[in-house]
Amino acid sequence: QRLDLDLEAIEKGGYEHFMLKEIFEQPQTIFDSFRGRLDAEQLRVTLSGLDSISDKLLKARRIIIVSCGTSWHAGLVAEYIIEELCRVNVEVEYASEFRYRNPIIDENDVILAISQSGETADTLVALETAKKQGATIFGIVNVVGSSIARLADAGVYTHAGPEIGVASTKAFTAQLVVLQLFALRLAQLKGTISDERFKTLIEGLAKVPEQVDWILKTQKATIRAIADKYRGSSDFLYLGRGYNFPIALEGALKLKEISYIHAEGYPAAEMKHGPIALVDETLPVVFIATQDPFYEKIVSNMQEIKARKGRLIAVVSEGDTQAAELAEDYIVVPQADEILAPLLSVIPLQLLSYYIGVERAVDVDKPRNLAKSVTVE
Ligand code: AGP
Repeated sequence: QRLDLDLEAIEKGGYEHFMLKEIFEQPQTIFDSFRGRLDAEQLRVTLSGLDSISDKLLKARRIIIVSCGTSWHAGLVAEYIIEELCRVNVEVEYASEFRYRNPIIDENDVILAISQSGETADTLVALETAKKQGATIFGIVNVVGSSIARLADAGVYTHAGPEIGVASTKAFTAQLVVLQLFALRLAQLKGTISDERFKTLIEGLAKVPEQVDWILKTQKATIRAIADKYRGSSDFLYLGRGYNFPIALEGALKLKEISYIHAEGYPAAEMKHGPIALVDETLPVVFIATQDPFYEKIVSNMQEIKARKGRLIAVVSEGDTQAAELAEDYIVVPQADEILAPLLSVIPLQLLSYYIGVERAVDVDKPRNLAKSVTVE
């Protein structure tokens, strides 16, 4: 018993929980997920798995992304990125829905399967079904040699290392990196990206580990104070637009899992179609209000919430004034290209849910009712 405890303490590397360790590992795991694949000097992205099915990808009518939970959120971010950079139609499906609705699939379809564990039952069965119908399966998986990795025709490992905390953190950011590399390489093969844009994005990606490190070091105390202030709330709303809309969903999911507080993520403009009815002086509303083409729109959404006395918390870019001024509390992230921004904006939301969970005495590494990998339906 004593030995087990000591071993666990060693594995946690001085952190109180695996989740905290995994959040703080992200500067390294993000680097590991592009190491050897991205050459910022030669302006090259190397993904041999992708190249091995390039004929299928180049003639695919569409790419279908199949996944669950946090991996599904990575898929939603990828939909925006791949459509923007590669000009190919992308559909994102919950594996559990996809497998039961008799989807129309044939040999012209490429399925991108995203899974940390590589063992999620719904994702696995959805892929088996699509494979039987002739689709090509491309896996983006963390666990080497897992069932989904073995079933895939080709793929890329995310290289995040073992993720012990039930709430996915470093596996998610590694998935985002691999999906960005996937989009960059495919865009290059399709000729849908200019050399200049390609250069900006790979140089930007190379800077992300340092930027994540900056967020963790400089914003930790602020995030902790925000967690302390709002830990008694019974509901949270998370809002974002564009590439940051799936990050709002991910922020809300993390909070639910780790603190047992009810939270909803929404596209910011969609709030007028229902969720705005929830807003009163007790509701914390977390906005992802970083500098991107949607910034002005987000600021006006924030004004609408403020007019209804909602409590605004914002994730803003360095140098921001408008959104930060409107918010009751704010967290700063470095400026980044809009395609890379989700990698930064998710970090404070992971940490916020972690600290709220700890304040509420939840077993954050093993929250109730959840399993690390859902191997039954
Ligand atoms: C994330 O925090 C969750 N615990 C969960 O949603 C998870 O992402 C989902 O079960 C999918 O798992 P996978 O990536 O291993 O397939």
